[in-house]
Amino acid sequence: MSASYEVRGAIAVITLNNPPVNGLGYETRKAVAAAVEKAEDDAAVKAIVITGAGKAFSGGADIKEFGSPLALAEPNLLSLIARVEGASKPVVAAIHTVCMGGGLELSLGCHYRVVSPGAAIALPEVKLGILPGAGGTQRLPRAIGVEAALNMIVSGEPVKSELLAQIPGQKLFDRVIEGDLIEGALAFANEIAAARPLPMVRDLKCKHPDGDAYFGFARNTVNAMAKNFPAPARCVDCVEQATKARFEDGLKVEREAFAALMLTPESKALRHAFFAERAAAKVPGIPEDTATREIRSVAIIGAGTMGGGIAMNFLNAGTPVVMLEMKQEALDKGVGIIRKNYEAQVKKGKLKEDKYAERMALLSTTLSYAELGGADLVIEAVFEEIGVKRQVFEQLDAVMKPGAILASNTSTLDLDKIAAFTKRPQDVIGMHFFSPANVMRLLEVVRGAKTAPDVLMTVMKLGKKIKKTCVVSGVCDGFIGNRMIEQYSRQAGYLLDEGCTPQQVDKAAEKFGFAMGPFRMGDLAGNDIGWAIRKRRYVEKPDVRYSKTADLLCELGRFGQKTGAGWYDYVPGKRDAIPSELVNDMLVKHRADLGITPRKIGDDEIVHRLVYSLVNEGARIVEEGIALRASDIDMVYLTGYGFPLWRGGPMNYADTVGLWNVVQAMKKFAKNPADDQAFWQPAPLLARLAAEGKSFS
Ligand code: 3HC
Ligand code: NAI
Repeated sequence: MSASYEVRGAIAVITLNNPPVNGLGYETRKAVAAAVEKAEDDAAVKAIVITGAGKAFSGGADIKEFGSPLALAEPNLLSLIARVEGASKPVVAAIHTVCMGGGLELSLGCHYRVVSPGAAIALPEVKLGILPGAGGTQRLPRAIGVEAALNMIVSGEPVKSELLAQIPGQKLFDRVIEGDLIEGALAFANEIAAARPLPMVRDLKCKHPDGDAYFGFARNTVNAMAKNFPAPARCVDCVEQATKARFEDGLKVEREAFAALMLTPESKALRHAFFAERAAAKVPGIPEDTATREIRSVAIIGAGTMGGGIAMNFLNAGTPVVMLEMKQEALDKGVGIIRKNYEAQVKKGKLKEDKYAERMALLSTTLSYAELGGADLVIEAVFEEIGVKRQVFEQLDAVMKPGAILASNTSTLDLDKIAAFTKRPQDVIGMHFFSPANVMRLLEVVRGAKTAPDVLMTVMKLGKKIKKTCVVSGVCDGFIGNRMIEQYSRQAGYLLDEGCTPQQVDKAAEKFGFAMGPFRMGDLAGNDIGWAIRKRRYVEKPDVRYSKTADLLCELGRFGQKTGAGWYDYVPGKRDAIPSELVNDMLVKHRADLGITPRKIGDDEIVHRLVYSLVNEGARIVEEGIALRASDIDMVYLTGYGFPLWRGGPMNYADTVGLWNVVQAMKKFAKNPADDQAFWQPAPLLARLAAEGKSFS
């Protein structure tokens, strides 16, 4: 059932019923149009109420239909709204919980709107790289004023219904209903049943007193903020039309912009990311309604860089945290850094004093394992050494209550080995946070061979609560993100061997859209971390080739920002990366030692070599089952590694280029004698998909 119909007294009630959020898909649109007709044909019906079943009035057009003929099948959303607006009897939208996109546009086509307080009202299309395409840019400015509407349309952010109802002179809501919404809507509908002519938002005036100046300012602001996304600027154009053109003409401009934006790679990438984020929360074979464990308190071992950041996530969510260290000084230092972080937020006005106090009151510290036993979850963030992890997990096994979840934040060690230090490997899991852990959205949830399904689902749910994007990873060296970044770094090193400077590579990567190129990233994270990993690799995998440039850099003690010098030079107290003559000379000498004549490498080649090295390793990771799906890899890179959102992640980017083209480029790279032939061997999954003309998605 996609919409239900019932008559209550003189009022017909049409209820959208298309779970989970009453998306306005074809069947629903058809059912609503038919129900309006039925109500018109029934002489006993004097007015119509449209509402939504379940947890939304409507989340908007059915995004799952985008790109399919169903999205346009009549009645399409525009036709449906015109049908409702043209109804011979008054139509009242009864809005609650969530009213977004096409859902808000449908309600703006109704003659009246009543609303529950607390409903989230939005035109979030811009977040999908499009704009409201069913009259939203034309009707919302008429209902709440040009500036308030434009703010909502270009930001896509929801606004609470009671705030919108307070806008002076607003015509969006006719009544805020505190109690039972349907009863209130029925009473309202009975009151206005005889009113004629029927009011229409399209007939309202829409002007801005300083039109040209205001839209000029809005355009500049939006262009500066939207950067690589085309939709926000088009929103400004459409709203300007609402103030200058006749309603029908404005609608036409909106429709054309909507159709054009829908085809842009940016919109495709954003829609991919929307579904990828939701897909990542699902684990095949584990039902979503699996009973999870209650997490009321958290213990953290290690109050260093990661431990402190991890603690803040839970304090922010109102969960008590106890931190354990070996020495009081380490605890004091860790707590001091948490305090400093919160104080900085208070200073910037991002956190109220009383909230800061509340959060700190949830934090306690201890030097004794005996005091941790009652915690529901313990997260270990001590030194990255298997011996230290062993000590910690043996002690945790001895003190933690039965059923407690034992998590490790290890970034490289074998989680199954760590689990085997306990007698309860089913309760052990990896929670791989990214630094700074209180800021970065990504949480790789590492599923050990013996991790119990309910432990996995508990951590996924908890991750959502602390506002992380959780991606499940199997156990392997580096998990998903770091395993891939190692290949990217290797390729970045070869580029230096062949003739690039660090700044040339970084510039090309940043022009492509990476938040930071590989060398600036190395300087920020610390080049010594990669050095330690390579030293391990030289022993474990002596056949794997690396450029020696990064080792030479580290031998000079240039670990990055923390030592005041890395691939770049730094001025004390500043983070600006200054090209280094010393590094340049080091590279020139290194190439001479290798007998390489440097060549000029173009930006396209730089970017493709970097990105395809991610894609190839990503394909291996999917094939091995380390990642559950290719789109999970995209989420890892979008939320943890600064991959440009408008490109949708490395795997989506490869799909956009076409996998056949990706493989062709890799074959060409393999022919370059200065590059690494084995490196460019296409992963079997990539080769197969490319040969079959398929994509990762
Ligand atoms: N169409 C189809 N499915 C939708 C949907 C939509 N508009 N919005 C959400 N869903 C689905 C999700 O894909 C997810 O499905 P799944 O369970 O199969 O993974 C399910 O609803 C639940 O979604 P969330 O996990 O996001 O649930 P929340 O309760 O956290 O949030 C929400 C609900 C606020 C509605 C949020 O999903 C959201 O922001 N949705 C997008 C809304 C949107 O962008 N609307 C505009 C659509 S474009 C449009 O209307 C064009 C028009 O102008 C012509
Ligand atoms: P850190 O050196 O800043 O902090 C480690 C803390 O653990 C120190 O305060 C130390 O005193 C304490 N510690 C050491 N042994 C202990 C023990 N036996 N009992 C109690 N406390 C002990 O290290 P950092 O960077 O916080 O890393 C911690 C873990 O997080 C490591 O496993 C690391 O691989 C992982 N990680 C680090 C990331 C980073 O960017 N720094 C990112 C993701 C994971």
